[in-house]
Amino acid sequence: MCGIVGYLGGGKAYGVLIGGLHRLEYRGYDSAGVALEGRGGKLKVYRSRGKVADLERLTEGKDTSGCLGIGHTRWATHGEPSERNAHPHVSQSGRLALVHNGTIENYRPLRETLRQCGYHFNSETDTEVLAQLVDYILERGGRSLPEAVKEALGQVEGAYAIAVMERGNPDLLVVARKSSPLVIGVGEGETFVASDATPIVGYTDRVLYLKDNEVAVIRRGKPLEVQTLDGGSRPSLDIQTLRLSVAQLEKGGFPTFMLKEIFEQPSTLTDCLRGRITSDGKRVVLSGVTDNRERFLRARRIVIVACGTSWHAALIGKRLIQQLGGLPVEVEYASEFRYGCPRIGEEDVVVAISQSGETADTLAAVQLARELGAFVYGICNVVGSSIPRSTHSGTYIHVGPEIGVASTKAFTGQVTVLALLALCLGQIRGTLAEEDVERVAKALLRLPETIEETLRLAPEVEQLSKTFTFAHNFLYLGRGYNYPTALEGALKLKEISYIHAEGYPAAEMKHGPIALIDHEMPSVIIAPNDSLHDKVLSNVQQVKARGGIVVAVINKGDEAIKSLADFVLEIPAVPECLTPIVASVPLQLLAYYIAVNKGRNVDRPRNLAKSVTVE
Ligand code: G6P
Repeated sequence: MCGIVGYLGGGKAYGVLIGGLHRLEYRGYDSAGVALEGRGGKLKVYRSRGKVADLERLTEGKDTSGCLGIGHTRWATHGEPSERNAHPHVSQSGRLALVHNGTIENYRPLRETLRQCGYHFNSETDTEVLAQLVDYILERGGRSLPEAVKEALGQVEGAYAIAVMERGNPDLLVVARKSSPLVIGVGEGETFVASDATPIVGYTDRVLYLKDNEVAVIRRGKPLEVQTLDGGSRPSLDIQTLRLSVAQLEKGGFPTFMLKEIFEQPSTLTDCLRGRITSDGKRVVLSGVTDNRERFLRARRIVIVACGTSWHAALIGKRLIQQLGGLPVEVEYASEFRYGCPRIGEEDVVVAISQSGETADTLAAVQLARELGAFVYGICNVVGSSIPRSTHSGTYIHVGPEIGVASTKAFTGQVTVLALLALCLGQIRGTLAEEDVERVAKALLRLPETIEETLRLAPEVEQLSKTFTFAHNFLYLGRGYNYPTALEGALKLKEISYIHAEGYPAAEMKHGPIALIDHEMPSVIIAPNDSLHDKVLSNVQQVKARGGIVVAVINKGDEAIKSLADFVLEIPAVPECLTPIVASVPLQLLAYYIAVNKGRNVDRPRNLAKSVTVE
């Protein structure tokens, strides 16, 4: 949800800002802007509706010099995507420019007060209020920019990561955060600021993650200062080493990030599994669980909170943990958890799943669960992001940066970690026989090859996708472990092709969706040879009996379904509890190729953002 970037150093800020905004564009891409300051003492601000490339076109031939600058790529919350609502916002007196990611919840009363003090507003945004408030405090006199920023933030309710620069002060950049991420890259004589570490990669590997209620004062030629809003300062800067390479952030010969990420899954699952199963394939080693053995042994139940694709992984996790770990599990949308009077206590373990580690609803659910006394365990991808830093323990999925907005490799990584978690719980609680652990653990170790084999379906899926380019509606059906796979398959299609798709438990079809079935409505049915295979087979018959078109995802050699379905996609067999990982791959490919046929921007679908840091 909006990306911010900043630079103060000896180089030209513009190139750093534009490069950084391109990397942050997954966070929002409806408008973009930069503010630059040279030694001439004038703020140069360029803003444009649309993508970062539109901003670049706008600045062609213009003065983009300056060694200090801030930039922003927006995902609209307050006010339509337009040039006037784009950041940076310049204050009324023209003395400062500000970029913001987050939401200022009390912007209305603040705006009214500022109006009474003679301030006019040019945009519909909450951010402009903050720019004017800092301006108002500075104009009264007696305050430096860092002091004015701190005083203004003291009056603000909500979430923010901000970067502020002042006209005529090319040696100072002030940044702050509360509930929205902000990373500072400390280079040789230059400092970088960004919503995540991706814009900093390639410049420096020394980073500092700003904490809530901290303000960093970046001055040219001076050591970085980190202060707290209540007047304190950080005793030690705690600079960390970033382990991310430029190659990991590039497309590596694929036309899109999404396709690259789908094809990366054999290697991302290898990384995800590394060191987590003993070499004899007999035991699972998850230090996040074993180091907190007592809390897991004491657990009365597990509550999983997540959003979007991560919530689908959670639904699979529920079955895995109940079957293999022997504990009752509840799954909640993080956004609903907070407002549902959760009955959570010290005997509960709350598991938060989030690729980005920044989703505002999931982060708030984590904070609430902690306040209520639960032990909180995170399953995240982005190392050092807010959720892993707010939980008691956890396991990273280690699938590398996921840039495509529609999640693919993170989903399979999440389900893999949930399977490891379930096995580990089964081991420590003694609810699982050793041979059952070994059977699933060995299948997990073979997953990279299994996914490699599944990916060979790509040309077939590409061909099949052409049949459905003009379909208006899709139904995705599955049962048991693969009901969530159906939900995820439908979500992928919706997200990137804009075709309406619904996921349903196959047996529920007869209670409603069956009324929609006709020769124009394809049903994608996930039907591996599992314990519910025969039940799903009768659902296939029900769809066919009503003239529907069936695409079935089956195991090789399933002649019963093959003879009924219009199209089949044959996947390798794995233990039932791991089938969602394998079955989701052809569904990712199907959504991908249909979206490409329709000419969609698969990496940046309209209206969506990768990291949703607003409620
Ligand atoms: C957004 C993304 C989805 C993602 C969801 C949850 O909607 O577009 O791909 O599943 O947020 O994100 P998280 O980072 O918490 O997994």
